[in-house]
Amino acid sequence: MSIQTKIHDTADLVAQSAAQTIATLIRKKPNAVIGLATGSTPVKTYAELIHLHRENNLSFAKVTTFNLDEYWGLDGDHNQSYRHFMQDLFFNRIDICTWNTHVPNGKAVDPALEGKSFEAQIRASGGVDLWLLGIGHNGHIAFNEPGSTINSRTRQVDLTQTTIEANTRFFQNQDDVPRKAITAGIATILDARQILLLATGSAKANAIKQALQDQPTSQSPASFLQTHANCTFMLDKEAASQIA
Ligand code: GLP
Repeated sequence: MSIQTKIHDTADLVAQSAAQTIATLIRKKPNAVIGLATGSTPVKTYAELIHLHRENNLSFAKVTTFNLDEYWGLDGDHNQSYRHFMQDLFFNRIDICTWNTHVPNGKAVDPALEGKSFEAQIRASGGVDLWLLGIGHNGHIAFNEPGSTINSRTRQVDLTQTTIEANTRFFQNQDDVPRKAITAGIATILDARQILLLATGSAKANAIKQALQDQPTSQSPASFLQTHANCTFMLDKEAASQIA
């Protein structure tokens, strides 16, 4: 098994291609279960999907979604919560039913219970058909930081200093960035029938090289995707620039 790579000239073309892949799945299976990601990378893909919804009758009415992660301690109404991000940039602009959208609850009383319940909801939905991913500078996927194991499941995690720094741009100052998150695990992601990881820009080039070329290792959580039978990395030229 190996990861397929598709390299496009620009980030816009990556987004168009990713959106077409998702749209093709939904047209074939209107009640598809789709895993989603936050971060800046997939924003253009969501914009393309909104465009396909408005201009090409792509309907999400029967689609179910699961998001990878949520900051621990932030309510879904908080303007930096991942629930808010998804509502604002995607869900509120398409015909999806909010009750079919799932984001881990960052304010759950018991994180272990929330993790189990999230996994149970994925199982009850029939499993994820396609999970869209981004990648962190240190090779993290969702909030599975280096050190995460291939068997990990949805759980509470500590964020690394580099991730906190990378995410500071979205907050007033670094002290406001949550130190913990609740995240789908590596095994949760690997259960998806198809995985599509997007990376754009030279800042991701080293993480992409390690994910593709290192032996699967906890030090580069994205490298565990090599063990999946149907995983594609969609990259722009900059993100692909260190691939041998
Ligand atoms: C956060 C998210 C990840 C995302 C990463 C990269 O850490 N939890 O799911 O892949 O950011 O974000 P960006 O696309 O903004 O570089």
